[in-house]
Amino acid sequence: MYRRPRRNRKSSVIRGMVEETRLSTKDFIFPLFLLGGKNQKTEVKSMPGIFRFSTDLMLKEVESCMELGINAFDIFPAYTEDQKDKYATESHNPETFYLKAIQKIKETFPEACIMTDVAMDPYSSDGHDGLVKDGKILNDETLEILGKMAVAQAQAGADIIGPSDMMDGRVGYLREQLDDHGYTDVSIMSYTAKYASAFYGPFREALDSAPKMGDKKTYQMDPANLYEAMIEADLDTEEGADFLMVKPALAYLDVIRLLKDNYNVPIAAYNVSGEYSMIKASAERGWLDGERAMLESLLSIKRSGANVILSYFAKEFALLQK
Ligand code: PBG
Repeated sequence: MYRRPRRNRKSSVIRGMVEETRLSTKDFIFPLFLLGGKNQKTEVKSMPGIFRFSTDLMLKEVESCMELGINAFDIFPAYTEDQKDKYATESHNPETFYLKAIQKIKETFPEACIMTDVAMDPYSSDGHDGLVKDGKILNDETLEILGKMAVAQAQAGADIIGPSDMMDGRVGYLREQLDDHGYTDVSIMSYTAKYASAFYGPFREALDSAPKMGDKKTYQMDPANLYEAMIEADLDTEEGADFLMVKPALAYLDVIRLLKDNYNVPIAAYNVSGEYSMIKASAERGWLDGERAMLESLLSIKRSGANVILSYFAKEFALLQK
């Protein structure tokens, strides 16, 4: 035998040299759940270790993450039922707590990169990402609301907006709205291939944002489809997206790879709430080694081609690097 692949596995030094994929804290965006009021911190039941914070405590959380080298955050606000309406009005009310919080975070940590979500669901009494009429989601009417939301977020200081709504034409529409209002510098990370997934369950608990009626299958993609992601990616790149995102990550590594191989825009992957909870739950039961399962899944996401990883594990990963 001339070729013995095991020679390159014989010591940890050599294994380190031949490692093809390396994770870094710089790869991550850490999603954070935001509450109104003051001095509030509540754990998400289905996501052990993940909390919702009011703005004052979120500032402390951001500071501690930045000390660990995490500099990018995606902020998701939790609104109470009485603050929601059909038109998601709170999403662009300049006095609303989430826009104030973004402003405060950017003021306190100008070097932090703040991403915001553009979709109606946390502010909508219907719990859908778009405007509902007679049981249907109205695409073009939704765009107008998303436009106002994106401009309000840019005005508050968002560095990246993340349209997660899956309406047709939204990337181009939002680009135009941002540019018309002078926000040519604000980036768009499009949720390009966002699937109608069971893995968003814990997130919807965190924000109490589950749809009141029906499901999201008329706008989110069918888990059966791979090549349809390229239609979305073609449109998003033509319409000016700065990043293409695949979501969820672990059950869709083939989609990440396909987009990576076919587009020159950086690819992001969202390691969603259910993917976090699955590992946490089995680790709690002693059924698997949570830390190793976390590292292996994050590595697989990067290996499949993601340049950027949105993950609830970001802080835990960063802590391990210290
Ligand atoms: C809102 C949105 C969702 C997630 C991110 N943005 C939920 C959904 O579409 O129902 C899910 C994130 C996660 O599960 O971690 N449109």
